[in-house]
Order: sequence, then structure tokens, then C-alpha cells
Amino acid sequence: MKFIELAKKRVSIRSYKPEPVSDELLNEVLEAGRLAPTACNLQPFQFIVVREKKNLAALAACYPGEWLQEAPVVIAVCTQISKAWKRKYDARTLVDVDAAIAADHMTLAAADIGLGTCWVGAFDPKAVRKVLGVPRTVEPLILLSLGHPNENGRSKVRQPIEKLVRYETWK
Ligand SMILES: Cc1cc2nc3c(=O)[nH]c(=O)nc-3n(C[C@H](O)[C@H](O)[C@H](O)COP(=O)(O)O)c2cc1C
Repeated sequence: MKFIELAKKRVSIRSYKPEPVSDELLNEVLEAGRLAPTACNLQPFQFIVVREKKNLAALAACYPGEWLQEAPVVIAVCTQISKAWKRKYDARTLVDVDAAIAADHMTLAAADIGLGTCWVGAFDPKAVRKVLGVPRTVEPLILLSLGHPNENGRSKVRQPIEKLVRYETWK
């Protein structure tokens, strides 16, 4: 599949079949996240794979959308700010960018092998921290649901290319 076809194929999936995701497929998705580029190759993140029913239910309770309860796997993408590269001019880290690239690699890899994903950012961070038991230095940034799709997802609505792209300057 050409990359552009894969980018079109990946849509947010918010309904999942109950069948579990095999270790082989899960590992392929995680490997795609591992291979993602990061600033100075510092890889300032960890992935927490949640598959046990009790833990999935506790995680889903941290998010208002009921659909998350159906996901057989949730991958929590967690940032480690102390490990992140800092820009010398303003000490800004790009840790969220690093983690987002890894998450995006995973969603695309999942789509490539027929699995569905959805990014979840609208969770209660305090509650998620508690469920995952992460230390203070670690921030759960994004939850990715993962499973066999039980829907096709919505068709893509995006700004037209002529409204999105400017050339040379903002003007
Ligand atoms: C950073 C981020 C956070 C998101 N958080 C949520 C969320 O909390 N709940 C949800 O249902 N979808 C969430 N989404 C999915 C977006 O709504 C979805 O990607 C967007 O509407 C485009 O649709 P598509 O993924 O099907 O192309 C999130 C997406 C991103 C990139």
C-alpha cells in the first residue's frame, strides 16, 4: 500500500469487536512506535499496554466517552520530561511532539494491519495517573485505543489544500 493510501485508510475507530488483539499484532504496533524519530534521539517516553479487563474498565472510567469500554487494548503514551531534549534558546522541550510522532506511527501501523485505533486526549489526567500508577515525573499524554474495528469510522473532513498551505511567507 502506498503511504498516501494508508493515511487515507486510518480513521478513528470508536467501536471494537470483542476478539482480543494477538501479541504478534500488538508487538507490530508497538515496534512502529519504538522506531519513531525523537529530538536528539532521546526517546523520552514509555508505552503502558493495558489489556486486563479490570484495568481497562478503570481507565475507561477516566474518560466520558462510553465507547472506550469496548476497546480490548489501550496503549497509554507517557512522556518523561526530564529525559527530553531542550531547545537552548528558550528551554522549551518538544516532548509532546516526540510522543505524538510515536503515537501516530502506532495508529498508522495498526491501520496497515487491519486494526482500529483512536487517539484519546479528553481524559481526566489525575484519574489516569492513579489508574496507571505512574510516578510524578511521568505524564500520561495520550491514550490510544486498539482493537479489531466494528465500524468503518467517519469519512474524513479536512480543510481544502488551498486553505491549508501557504508558500514562502504567511502573507
Ligand atoms: C491529540 C488528539 C486527541 C484526540 N482526543 C480524542 C478524544 O478524547 N476522544 C475522541 O473520541 N477522539 C479524539 N481524537 C480523535 C479526533 O477526533 C479525530 O482524529 C479527528 O476527528 C479526525 O478524524 P479521523 O481520526 O477519523 O481522521 C483525538 C485526536 C487527536 C490527534
